[in-house]
Parts: sequence; structure tokens; C-alpha cells
Amino acid sequence: MIQKNSTHDVTFTDLTHDAMGVAKIDGFPVFVKDALKGEKGQIKIIKVNKNFAFGKLLTLHEPSPFRKKPICEHFDTCGGCNIMHMNYEMQLSFKKHRVKETLKKISGISPPIGNTVAMNNPYYYRNKAIIPFGEQDGRVVAGLYKSRSHEIVDLRRCHIFPKIYSDIIRAVKALVIEHDIDVYDEETHDGLLRAIMLRHSESTGDISLTFIMTSGKLPKKEIIIQSIVERFPVISNINVNINQDKTNVLLSSKSKTLYGKDEMKDTLLGIEYTFNHRSFYQINPAQTEKLYRAAIDLADLKKTDTVIDSYCGIGTIGLTAAKHVKAVIGFDVVKDSIRSAQLNAKNNDIENARFIQGKAEDVLPDLKSEQVDVLFIDPPRKGCHKEFLDTVIAMGIPKVVYISCNVSTFARDTSILNAGGYKVTSVTPFDMFPQTSHIETLALLTK
Ligand SMILES: C[S@@+](CC[C@H](N)C(=O)[O-])C[C@H]1O[C@@H](n2cnc3c(N)ncnc32)[C@H](O)[C@@H]1O
Repeated sequence: MIQKNSTHDVTFTDLTHDAMGVAKIDGFPVFVKDALKGEKGQIKIIKVNKNFAFGKLLTLHEPSPFRKKPICEHFDTCGGCNIMHMNYEMQLSFKKHRVKETLKKISGISPPIGNTVAMNNPYYYRNKAIIPFGEQDGRVVAGLYKSRSHEIVDLRRCHIFPKIYSDIIRAVKALVIEHDIDVYDEETHDGLLRAIMLRHSESTGDISLTFIMTSGKLPKKEIIIQSIVERFPVISNINVNINQDKTNVLLSSKSKTLYGKDEMKDTLLGIEYTFNHRSFYQINPAQTEKLYRAAIDLADLKKTDTVIDSYCGIGTIGLTAAKHVKAVIGFDVVKDSIRSAQLNAKNNDIENARFIQGKAEDVLPDLKSEQVDVLFIDPPRKGCHKEFLDTVIAMGIPKVVYISCNVSTFARDTSILNAGGYKVTSVTPFDMFPQTSHIETLALLTK
């Protein structure tokens, strides 16, 4: 039996889905953070479970030729990025491999998988950041959580957010300290400021700042707003989001605007979108354009087609498809998003798209009588409701274009569609989240 604190010389033979190196000691798997496949090193066992253990890399005897020195000073502790130690070529092939293995393991299929579509500059891409605030040893800290914990890593500079975010986070932290604003304590549920959220529009340059707090009253409101907008004129909107719940979900549905208009605008593939700080919007605009273009191509749309954009958010996929087809029907559970989708159709003179608010699993059965040619599915990480997939099968929609941000639930849903007569004919990973092990996948399923 492997012992805690024992040290071992090992060779890493694989990587887990979240990019931990896998070594076997007498057949017993040990998972080690920041170790790459093919590397040899010395590890210390830090935790032993029934079927596997966790180790810590002490010395690297033989580094992988694909290893890269992370450009971030926080990489060792921060949970934001977990594959910055792989060069970009390896990040891309790791993602392709994960998609292949997951489909094989969960859905028992081995379709051809395209190469991961790369980003030109795989840094500074993430247009949305939620930064928790807390206190450590009497000091205010603000940053991302350590991996698998709620301990905040006090962030000096982040290399996946736009560069200006690091300056804004530090400036807000300085104001919080200067004006003695109480930060939230997750354990005792005391305090006011839980986090801030930043969102950025690539096309206008505007930034929206939201204070996520346990009450709607920002102390020293005028002074704080004035110092923020004077220093960062690109901040065009400041909100308070009120969240009094003991929950991990930081953003609630209750907000009020303190400065500017609660409205962002961004352009994707020539269509201008308006949305507010609570609506879903893809976090990597450069890759989103590539993804949507590929999704539209894959659907091979015809002027006579009726298309459904399920889980449509603010309508981006459906409105991109609209000019190629006869009609688009979109639906999403979030009311704000549907209102934005309707407004976006109107503002862009798109008259053949309509949007319905509701859960996908409730709305699709109501559309059973429609002759639908193509269905776009872009669900949240938890994937689709079984009832939704059963309805897709019952309707016999000939083409399904599935966009997924979680390959495990994609594989699970694919199995259900597979059993209902759908075949996966194309799968391509897109690198929407460089430096992290998250994968976006685009697939075509045909009846
Ligand atoms: C990954 S986002 C995709 C949004 C949009 N297609 C895009 O590219 O911006 C998933 C969307 O599903 C919505 N959603 C979550 N659960 C849902 C459900 N049960 N029914 C309908 N929409 C849902 C969320 O509000 C979110 O807008």
C-alpha cells in the first residue's frame, strides 16, 4: 500500500481530463499537478484514496520537449489556468485527444476529430471576469480561487483577462482599503463586498463594472464612482448586484445601475448586439466568430430552411444564420437574454427571427408541429435535459449542430441522440479557453 509522504521516482504515462500527470506505482494511479505525459520526476505522495492517490512534483528529472515556462507569476497557486506549462501546440493536441477519449469512453463512438482550431494570440482573451474579494491575515485580497478551494490568490497580474483588468482590480482594491469597505467572509456570512465583475466589449472598448454585494448600498458611492471613471474612462457602466444567499453562484438576478447605462454593445460577424451585464455572452470574441462561421458552414443552410437556435442567449447564432434561411426560432430560459435577442433582431433589420422565453425542454415540445430542418444546440455545461433530446428525436429534425463547452455532457447527450438514430459525422474542438483545460466542441449529427 502506498504511504502518504513517501517519495518515488516515476514516469508520467498519461494526463487526466483536467491535465494532471498520471503515474503508476505498482499499478496504483497517482495524479500530479503540473506534470506532463512522458516526463520523469520525483514525487511526494500528499493524499491517498481507495483507488488513487495525489502527489506533488518535487524534482523534474526529464522535462517534456512540450513544456513551457508559464508567463504568469501566479501559475503555481491560482486555479484560473492549469495548462500554461504546456506549449500551445501541446495544449491544442491535448484538447483533441480529450475529445476523442471522452467520446470513446462515454458514448462508445470514434468519429473523425478535426484539429483543435487555434487562437492567434492565446492570451488576454477573456472578456468577462468575476473576482472575489476577501480578507487574509487582516489584509484585503482580490483574485481568483486556488484550484479546488475557495482560498483567494491575491492577483497582481492575469494573462488571460484584457491587460487593463489587472489595473482595475488593483485600483478597486485600493479604494476598498482606503474607504474601509467591509469585505465578505464566506464562513461567517458577514461583510458587504463579495466580488466584482468586469465585462469588456471588443468592438467599442467599453467596460462594465459590477460590485457583487450583500446589500445594494455602496458606501462612499459618489467618491468611489468618480475615482474609478476618472482613472478608467473606458468604464462606461457601474452596477451593484445584490446577493445575500449562502451560495457559490456569485451573480444574482437582482441588480441596480449606479453609473451609465446597463447596456453593452459588441459586434460579431457584422451583427451588432446589445445586452446587459447579466446576459450570457461568449467570453472569447475572436474564437466565437470562427466557431459561429464554422457552425453555419457545417449546417449547410438553405433559403427554404426553418432553423431552431436552442439555448440562444442574446440570439447570436440564430441571427447569424438568419440571412441564409427562411425562418429562425430561438429560445432561452433567461428573460433579459430573450429581450436582448428580440431587440438585436430589430436593430439589425432581421425580420425572419423570433425568440421565446422558456426552458428548452418545455419550449421544444410546443414546436412539434413545425417543419424544422436544422437545430442548433448550445447548452450550458450541464448539457441538455433528457426530455429535450427525446423531443429532438421524436421530431426527427434531420440536422443537429451541437456546440458544447463540456465534452463529458456532450458525449452523454450524443449517446442519447445516437440511440435515437443520429450519427455524429463531424467533430472539431475550438480553443475558446486557452491556458485552461476547458474545451469547446462543434459537432454535426445527422438523422
Ligand atoms: C453556453 S450559453 C449559449 C448562448 C448562446 N448560444 C451564445 O452563443 O452566446 C447557454 C445558454 O443556455 C441558457 N440556458 C440554461 N439552461 C437552459 C434551459 N434549461 N433552457 C433554455 N436555455 C437555458 C443560458 O441562459 C445561456 O444563455
